[in-house]
Amino acid sequence: MSHHFLLIIHLLAATVWVGGHLYLSIGILPTVLRDRNASRLLRFEKSYEPIGMTALVLLVITGLWMTLQFGISWHQWLSFSSPVERITSAKILLLFLTVLLAVSAQTRVIPRLKQNPAKLPEMGLHIVAVTVIGIAMLVLGSFVRYGGI
Ligand code: HEM
Repeated sequence: MSHHFLLIIHLLAATVWVGGHLYLSIGILPTVLRDRNASRLLRFEKSYEPIGMTALVLLVITGLWMTLQFGISWHQWLSFSSPVERITSAKILLLFLTVLLAVSAQTRVIPRLKQNPAKLPEMGLHIVAVTVIGIAMLVLGSFVRYGGI
């Protein structure tokens, strides 16, 4: 598949993933924490989840595909041995961290959030961490066209 087409899908998915989390962090989280009421957060979470997860899956598929097109085969991943490979390896580690945070939020925090507003700051930390990691992945991606890091 054309690299340019993969990049366009990657950028659209990054827009949805990072944009959605920035809106959640800046537009919704402060009010929810102030009012100690999780219902708005849970509503957004529910409606955003299908589109957000689709965007993340597309980011992984197109990202790994573009990595292969750069001549970096899977057995070189996580070796931190060349400028572009270092970027993709850092992104794979950050992706792993994102998945861990998502599993922790889904299994430990969200189920208890409705009954227990004391869990809101912990949920806030998860949201801000995923947002910052998403921005870091976006910034890392932007270095590829300059030859890597
Ligand atoms: C939240 C997840 C991610 C976000 C927000 C993200 C964002 C971006 C952005 C903004 C670019 C810049 C493209 C440009 O300079 O025009 C990019 C490029 C790239 N990303 Fe990602 N990315 C993510 C995940 C991944 C993953 C998991 C991989 C694979 C390990 C990956 C591999 C790449 C590659 C190889 C490029 C360079 C494409 C090129 O310049 O031709 N990305 N990414």
